[in-house]
Amino acid sequence: MKYIVLLLGFSIGLLFSQDYVGVKKCKTCHNSKKKGAQYTVWKNGPHANAFETLKTNEAISVAKEVGLKENPWESPQCLRCHTTGYEKGGYELKGDDFWNHEPEDKKAKKAVKRMVALQDIGCESCHGPGSDYKKKKTMVGISLGSITGESVGLWTPDEAMCVVCHNQASPTYKVFNYEERIKQVAHPYPE
Ligand code: HEC
Ligand code: HEC
Ligand code: HEC
Ligand code: HEC
Repeated sequence: MKYIVLLLGFSIGLLFSQDYVGVKKCKTCHNSKKKGAQYTVWKNGPHANAFETLKTNEAISVAKEVGLKENPWESPQCLRCHTTGYEKGGYELKGDDFWNHEPEDKKAKKAVKRMVALQDIGCESCHGPGSDYKKKKTMVGISLGSITGESVGLWTPDEAMCVVCHNQASPTYKVFNYEERIKQVAHPYPE
């Protein structure tokens, strides 16, 4: 029993130790042309404005149609698919106090910066929270096969992961054909 409790505690500890770090962090190492410029490909792709999309007139009318009371960019019903890691340790709905902090409060400023970097469908929406795999040594280990992605929270993205958001719970759902859609967001290393 004691052992199980310990093990449980340890697993929960591991779960919460993996934190979302935001796209800017990934950009520092994944934006060279020579290696496929994943950040630029993402920035020019369909996922990089998912949060801003919630502020458009189209979103406001979609929200009306589904009977939403609050603004779409402040509604859990929309945020869960239009931000990174919503309610999984990533993006959170925050009040005015959080956004309008004292200008000299450095800690609050940092927290705001991190939250802004979790708007949209960032790298970590598909690759998993980055705190445990973002170190160069770990990343190289994974690519050489000496470290498994799993052990540091790096997911292997596949169709099942896309349909967490691309499904009929989306008020603007378009039939999702993986083979076709993946081409629109692919960011491989060059041959
Ligand atoms: C300090 C630099 C650095 C940072 C920060 C970083 N990476 Fe990496 N990443 C690398 C290196 C180096 C490789 C190995 C391949 C290569 O040389 O580009 C790699 C490989 C990968 C791979 C391929 C792994 C495989 O299976 O072969 C993925 C996916 C990845 N990174 C995603 C991310 C994401 C998402 C983030 C942000 C949360 C991130 N990386 C942050 C340096 C970094
Ligand atoms: C966390 C939720 C989420 C995940 C996971 C996700 N998407 Fe999306 N995707 C969105 C949202 C939201 C939009 C619409 C963004 C906008 O219009 O600003 C979108 C738009 C797109 C578009 C462009 C619009 C369209 O429907 O043709 C493509 C292509 C796409 N996603 C492909 C994928 C693929 C392939 C995967 C899996 C590898 C994936 N997405 C995973 C949320 C997600
Ligand atoms: C289950 C995930 C999910 C939820 C919940 C969700 N969306 Fe989306 N949203 C998507 C995806 C995926 C797309 C890309 C188009 C598609 O295939 O549905 C998208 C696209 C959009 C677009 C762009 C229009 C288009 O056709 O591409 C708007 C506007 C939008 N969503 C508004 C909203 C609003 C407002 C809410 C909350 C009431 C919401 N969404 C909730 C997943 C979701
Ligand atoms: C919509 C989901 C999605 C998003 C967002 C996303 N990726 Fe990926 N990424 C994938 C998929 C799917 C693959 C291919 C995995 C495979 O082939 O097994 C991939 C592969 C990679 C690879 C390996 C390339 C190769 O040729 O093996 C790297 C590196 C990478 N992504 C980095 C990033 C970075 C950095 C970001 C953010 C700037 C990002 N990804 C955003 C889904 C995503």
